[in-house]
Order: sequence, then structure tokens, then C-alpha cells
Amino acid sequence: MKFFIDTANLDQIREAAALGVLDGVTTNPSLMAKEGISGKEAVLNHYRAICEIVDGDVSAEVIATDFEGMVREGEVLAALHKNIVVKVPIIEDGLKALRHFSDRGIRTNCTLIFSAGQALLAAKAGATYVSPFIGRLDDISTDGLALIEQIRVIYDNYDFETEILAASVRHTMHILHCAEIGADVMTGPLSAIKGLLKHPLTDSGLATFLADHKKAAQAVA
Ligand code: G3P
Repeated sequence: MKFFIDTANLDQIREAAALGVLDGVTTNPSLMAKEGISGKEAVLNHYRAICEIVDGDVSAEVIATDFEGMVREGEVLAALHKNIVVKVPIIEDGLKALRHFSDRGIRTNCTLIFSAGQALLAAKAGATYVSPFIGRLDDISTDGLALIEQIRVIYDNYDFETEILAASVRHTMHILHCAEIGADVMTGPLSAIKGLLKHPLTDSGLATFLADHKKAAQAVA
């Protein structure tokens, strides 16, 4: 399973990349706004900066909601760097834009997926990735992971090449369950990625090893 980080924060992207397990980055307009990035040039420069840190796919979302606007914005974004993936919402014009980009070899991430029907349409339109938002479904007492399972079955039935990118991942158990049920990618916060490292027996075991080593060294001295 590929690991993407879901942030526009350059320090966090650097920290995740330094761990050696990062395969890409996803952003959205809210995450860009959180970093205070606004204005066309600032946004484009920020995507360039992210692409310099990570050698992997970087999702950059269009703001337009009409077909022509999405195509215009998406083509500018795609021209920024070979790793840019144009993120498009699953609305009617978004579906048309997915097909347009797919026919021209521009890779896409279809976002705001909350149903298997939306994921099926996105795959048929040639999306590179679909992003089901599992945390936001859990927030409304709907099983986000069950949606990933349903999409996995549908895509496998027909050998769709579209990759399932589990988004709105909030914690370590989301990541593990996504891995168990065969999500191709997960995108989540740095805290969830680093959370996978933690185990109290690792901490106590290491402390014991180091203490025993020190005792042995003192005994020899
Ligand atoms: O980038 C899309 C998605 O991952 C958003 O996550 O936590 O805002 O629901 P969240």
C-alpha cells in the first residue's frame, strides 16, 4: 500500500519524507488555506515546492466547478511538474473533465467520493485515483471502511486500473484496516503515520537492552 501525507505543510511533508516511507502528497483547498497560501502564483509555487521535496504523486485540486474552468486549471497544474495529479470533484462537469484529462494522458484524483456509484463512474471516466473519504463517513455514523471494501470488489470484478486512495484517514487503525481490505493508497496525517511506530513493549525492550549494555560495560571497566 502506498502512503501519502494529507497536508500542504512543508515541514510535515519534509518530516514524513525523511522517514523513507512516503510515496506522495495530497492537498485540498482547505489544507492550502490552512497554510495561508492564496493567489494563483503563491498556489503554483507551493505545489512546485512540494514536488521538490517528494519524488511521488502530488494531488493538486482545481477550484473551478464548470468543465471549461476545470480543464483550464487542470492543464496549468499538470504542466507544473510530471508528478502533479489533478484533483477533480465528483460532480457532472468533474466527470467530463476526468474523461478529458484521461484521454490526454493527464493523471487525475477524483475527490469527495462518498458512494460506490460515484467510484464506479470515476473509474469508467478513466480516473487514476478515487478518494473515498472514510473519516467523514465515520463522522456521520456510516462505515467508511465498508465503502472501501465495496469499491475494491467492484474494481476487481472488472479489472479497473483506477487506484483506491483511502482519504480522510484519521488514525492508525484506519491505515491498518485499509491495508487489510486492499486499498491501494492511504492518505493521512503525519501523526497517524508515525503512530504506526509506537508500541510500549518496543520502548521498554529498548530501555532494557540499553541498561543491560551499560551494566555489562561497567562490569568490564
Ligand atoms: O484531502 C481530502 C481528505 O483527506 C480530507 O480529510 O480529515 O478533512 O476529512 P478530512
